[in-house]
Amino acid sequence: MKENPGTMEKLVSLCKRRGFIYQGSEIYGGLAGTWDYGPLGVALKKNIEQLWWKRFVLDREDMYGVDAAILMHPKVWEASGHVSGFSDPLVECQKCKKRFRADHLEDTTKCPECAGALGEPRQFNMMFKTHIGAMEDESSISYLRPETAGGMFVNFKNILDTFHPKLPFGMAQIGKAFRNEIAPRDFIFRVRELEQMEIEYFVRPENWKESFEYFLQEQMEFLKSDLGLSKDKIHTIDVPAEDRAHYSKHSVDTEFDFPFGQKELLGLAYRTDYDLSAHTQASKVDLSYFDEETKERFTPHVIEPTFGVGRLLLAVIADAYAEDEQNGETRVYLKFSPKVAPVKAAVFPLLKNKPELVAKARDVFTNLKKEIPQIMWDDNGNVGKRYRRQDEIGTPWCITVDFDTLGETPELKDTVTVRDRDTGEQKRIPVAELAAYLKKGIEVY
Ligand code: GAP
Repeated sequence: MKENPGTMEKLVSLCKRRGFIYQGSEIYGGLAGTWDYGPLGVALKKNIEQLWWKRFVLDREDMYGVDAAILMHPKVWEASGHVSGFSDPLVECQKCKKRFRADHLEDTTKCPECAGALGEPRQFNMMFKTHIGAMEDESSISYLRPETAGGMFVNFKNILDTFHPKLPFGMAQIGKAFRNEIAPRDFIFRVRELEQMEIEYFVRPENWKESFEYFLQEQMEFLKSDLGLSKDKIHTIDVPAEDRAHYSKHSVDTEFDFPFGQKELLGLAYRTDYDLSAHTQASKVDLSYFDEETKERFTPHVIEPTFGVGRLLLAVIADAYAEDEQNGETRVYLKFSPKVAPVKAAVFPLLKNKPELVAKARDVFTNLKKEIPQIMWDDNGNVGKRYRRQDEIGTPWCITVDFDTLGETPELKDTVTVRDRDTGEQKRIPVAELAAYLKKGIEVY
């Protein structure tokens, strides 16, 4: 896929201008690898998370949600292999002292910034260290979790003891993870504070392949049907053994055509019994499973579908970004699927200095908002400007209350114009049918 960094600049600027995403700690010059979500970014992120939670937890009977602490006992990360193995190769320029990830460089001998000589690569552990309690010594070291997965493995026995699930079953979690990336980059693509949506799905060892294939399909369905991503920009890649995480015996990454190239969007790994066995050994707590039917005791194997929320959000925005010509002007719009759109519809009075129009429009807005909360009121500038503004934030429908709504043309009384974002087409819809019309549009997209 052809890289298009120009689009990236436009996206970053739109995200800031319209209140999706701001640089973290911006008034202090920013903090690399951190980003803050504004009102529209939060709304978009929550929609993505809710669609994920619905598909993978609410619509199923075999999934158990958890929300584990970010700070965990340091032994968790020793047992999981992250203390010894969660590292990237780092090289430092001997002249300008800048640091790079060696595996991201074409030439590992020469600095890409100043052409100075690069030192020998060394392994850099990406976990953020902190201290628990008042003492700052070796005994108080803890880590901010580098993946949400750990919180599920340590609660495996709690789920067995409280819910007595039968295999196969899964645990699911949405939450923050932290990685001290050597070179955060590409906007929210590679960050130091990220959000993951992960599943640990426990299976009988002989059944791993079947569940692996199933979740590969489900991941694809989520991207296409729930997020509305373009099929032709999604690619699945078998990860070669040398690139797999230390815990994985088989991995398939799903990549996406971002404006800066085809890059990893999400992953699927066969973690075997690596984690449950390692935690059993380290904690001395038995994390095996007893099958009541076959009377066997064994350690389940794990299939792990893992999703980065920020990368999904970036894919959704990049895929939605569009420009066209309308009335001799370039129009920028985000053609979000209505399911993910942060604002489903905006309601306007045709003119804001006509109290009877404003009162009727407020009435339409208030009633609609009771049924579909993600509705916006907009009365700034003229209707053309409002359309441009709503197009830029990806609002699928704009609803205008005009004099016909009030009864100027008797047969149009209590109807409104509904304008479609992508086609610009306008339809007259009875106010009483508005909520049903929008709900149908959101569902059937
Ligand atoms: N529990 C498995 C795991 O954490 P991973 O491939 O290291 O696997 C899973 O990460 C997903 O988390 C990635 O596919 C990506 O979407 C997201 N991710 C990982 N590191 C990231 C970073 N530095 N910035 C943004 N997203 C990241």
